[in-house]
Amino acid sequence: MCGIVGVVGNKNATDILMQGLEKLEYRGYDSAGIYVSEGASKGRLIKSVGRIADLRSKLGIDVAGSTGIGHTRWATHGPASESNAHPHTSETARFVLVHNGVIENYLQIKEEYLSAHTFRGQTDTEIAVHLVGQFVEEGLSVLEAFKKALHIIEGSYAFALVDSENPDTIYVAKNKSPLLIGVGDGYNMVCSDAMAMIRETSEFMEIHDKELVVLTKDSISVSDYDGNALERETYTAELDLSDIGKGTYPYYMLKEIDEQPTVMRKLISAYTDEAGQITVDDAIVKAVQNADRIYILAAGTSYHAGFASKDFLEKLTDTPVELGISSEWGYNMPLLSKNPLFIMISQSGETADSRQVLVKANEMGIPTLTVTNVPGSTLSREATHTMLLHAGPEIAVASTKAYTAQIATLAILAKAVGDANGNSKAAEFDLVRELSLVAQSIEATLSEKDLIKEKVEQLLETTRNAFYIGRGNDYYVAMEASLKLKEISYIQCEGFAAGELKHGTISLIEEGVPVLALISNNEVLASHTRGNIQEVSARGANVLTIVDEAIAREDDDIRVRTVHPFLSSIAMVIPTQLIAYYATLQRGLDVDKPRNLAKSVTVE
Ligand code: F6R
Repeated sequence: MCGIVGVVGNKNATDILMQGLEKLEYRGYDSAGIYVSEGASKGRLIKSVGRIADLRSKLGIDVAGSTGIGHTRWATHGPASESNAHPHTSETARFVLVHNGVIENYLQIKEEYLSAHTFRGQTDTEIAVHLVGQFVEEGLSVLEAFKKALHIIEGSYAFALVDSENPDTIYVAKNKSPLLIGVGDGYNMVCSDAMAMIRETSEFMEIHDKELVVLTKDSISVSDYDGNALERETYTAELDLSDIGKGTYPYYMLKEIDEQPTVMRKLISAYTDEAGQITVDDAIVKAVQNADRIYILAAGTSYHAGFASKDFLEKLTDTPVELGISSEWGYNMPLLSKNPLFIMISQSGETADSRQVLVKANEMGIPTLTVTNVPGSTLSREATHTMLLHAGPEIAVASTKAYTAQIATLAILAKAVGDANGNSKAAEFDLVRELSLVAQSIEATLSEKDLIKEKVEQLLETTRNAFYIGRGNDYYVAMEASLKLKEISYIQCEGFAAGELKHGTISLIEEGVPVLALISNNEVLASHTRGNIQEVSARGANVLTIVDEAIAREDDDIRVRTVHPFLSSIAMVIPTQLIAYYATLQRGLDVDKPRNLAKSVTVE
């Protein structure tokens, strides 16, 4: 969702804010703004609708100062406009604030405390900064006013507040929305994630929910909302600046697709012991062994990765697996088994819907495991256990390498539990070898980019809709493949169980409708899917087949090198990622930043 950056100290604030916002742009990109203080009561507020590049074009060369806050927005309250873009100011414009999250009681606050105020836009954020301003007018110090406001405000937020009259301090607070302090020499920073600060520092400090931080150029004080001081260690992040660059790639998505063989190999090395055997923390293995049912909770692509992992998790751990959509389970928890284990899958580790489920699970005393790409993320911190994806930062909004890493990581877990249980299928499943073969299969598909591009250009150039079909694990890949295609190319696409089409949806098939069929290496399912292809072809569909090479026919379109059936989803999804990529390129759209979306969905 929105991204926040702030800096106070001895640095050029405009430069830091702008490069931070560029790095944060994947979190939201419908409008942006910065406030830079040029001394007491002298500040510049610049906002723009659109991308950070639009904001940059509005900056004069003379915007200089060493304290500032910036924001890139994903609209929740009020459309994308300059008046709704952050930073927002208080009634007298003395206070300036950026916010990520949703203030749930903003209308009550407006009515109860701010009925005489005039607002410039429609956002919930503006109410928060007016509230602080109001309390200062009533005689409170800035810190006391901020604390009082925090006691009143309900919902999710990461705030950074500047008092333009005393711009040597940034006031920061968070609840449910991500925020991190960056520690510098003669300056300090605050930001939604480490990636946007890594050029300046690799030393960070976590902030927990309902904590308030007062930042000056050489001090960081953390307290709770009642003013009790809290001790907090700093830590050094392992991020490398080159991890977050695009290099020579035109888009992050293509870079991230190409990184998948490396990610498979990284996972092997992260989860093998000195003898080359798969190894997972004993406590995590025990948590699975103690469970009578595994519940996987996730959203979007991560939810699809859960489906792709269900079969091997059940077969290797001998434990039933149930899937849940986080946004549904957060408030409608179904009847659970006696000894459940919740596995939260989340690339970002910050998804508010998944966090809501985790909060409930913690209240209910249910053991939890978070499978995430981001160490130290909220879902990691708050779960009983964490397994990391080792995929490196994923910046394109459309998730690719995280999906395949999620399946591989869960396979590692399933194998470790199966081995500990003496499961015979686990004993036969040489996962280190199989993941190496998966890496090779991905490489083979990546070497066919030109062919895939050509097929896409013939099939999807003008279509408004399409279908992916498959059976078994291929059905789960079809769900993910269709999400990928629709989210970036805006082609309406459904992922369908091939056999289910004839129970209604086949009425949508008419002359020229693209149907993309996935057929991995299972003879029985393959022959049934081939039958379904006949049915749609007979009704005029334009069919493209993506088939495991071991069972491919002469006229199949895209061949995928065979991998172990447990891992077929990883190999089969690669062509579909490239299909989404090339279909989007052909339409001249921004592959990395599709409309209406943001990378990290930190509102419910
Ligand atoms: C789609 C995509 C989203 C995310 C979903 C959950 O390409 O990336 O569907 O998978 O928003 O995000 P995480 O995995 O960060 O919890």
